[in-house]
Amino acid sequence: MCVTRVRIDAPHGRGKFLALVAGLAAVLAPAPALAAGDIERGAKVFGACAACHALERGRHLTGPSLAGVWGRKAGAVEGFPRFSAALKSSGIVWDEHSLDTWLASPEKTVPGNFMLFRGIADASARADLVAFLRAASEGKASPARRAAALPDLRQAPPRALVTALRHCGDTYFVTNGEGATLPFWEFNLRFKTDSSAGGPAPGRPILVGQGMQGDRAQVVFAQPEEISDFIRKDCSKS
Ligand code: HEC
Repeated sequence: MCVTRVRIDAPHGRGKFLALVAGLAAVLAPAPALAAGDIERGAKVFGACAACHALERGRHLTGPSLAGVWGRKAGAVEGFPRFSAALKSSGIVWDEHSLDTWLASPEKTVPGNFMLFRGIADASARADLVAFLRAASEGKASPARRAAALPDLRQAPPRALVTALRHCGDTYFVTNGEGATLPFWEFNLRFKTDSSAGGPAPGRPILVGQGMQGDRAQVVFAQPEEISDFIRKDCSKS
C-alpha cells in the first residue's frame, strides 16, 4: 500500500493550509456585516443624514425624502426637482448592495452627483444604516431624533417676527415684534425663502439664527418677491 505523506509543517505548505482554513472560515462564517445591520444603531447613524434627508413621504430638504427608497430607481422621487443628471442616469436601483456602495463613497459610486457627503468608511456602521433605511423605508422605524430640526416658522415668537427692515450704509436694522431693533453688518444677514407649509406667513418674515446679537442670522420670507418690497432704504434714524 502506498501512503502519500503530505508535509504540512513546511513553511510553504503550512501557508497554503492556513489559507485554505481561512478560506473555509470565510465561506462558512455568517454572511458579513452587510446582512447583519442593527436597526437601532442604524437610527443613530442616520443622524449624519438627517440634516439633508427626511423620512416622511414628500418632505424634501437639501436631499430628497428617503421614504420608500428601498427598491426604487435612483433619482426618481416624485416632487424633488434637484437631482443631478449623473444620479438620474446612473441606472442604480436602491438595495442592500447599491446603498452600501453609495454610502461608502457617493463620489466614487456616481461621479458628479450632488450629495455633498464624504461617505462612511466603517462597514458595520453602513450595514446598520442600510438596515435602518430598509426598515424606515417600509414604515417600520423612525429616526432616533426628529429629522432636521427646522423651526416651525408659523409658530415663531414675537421677538423672531420681523416687523421692519431697513438698510443704511453697510447695515441692516431689523425691528422685531417686541419693538427692539437689531443692527447687522449687511454681509452677516442672509435672506431666504420657505414656501412650504411650515414657512412663514406671507408678509411676516422671521429672523432665525444663532446670533440675534448682531452676528450671523437670516431672515426667512414666504416668497422671493416679498424681499425687496420689505426692505426700506432709510438713513433718517442712523
Ligand atoms: C449635505 C446634504 C446631504 C447629506 C448629509 C446626505 N445626503 Fe443623501 N442626498 C443629498 C442630495 C442633494 C441628494 C441628491 C444627489 C443627486 O441628485 O446627485 C442625495 C441623494 C441620496 C440618495 C439617493 C436618493 C434617490 O432617490 O435616488 C440616497 C439613498 C441618500 N442620499 C442617502 C443618504 C444617507 C443615508 C445619508 C447619511 C449617511 C445621506 N444621504 C447624507 C444630500 C445629502
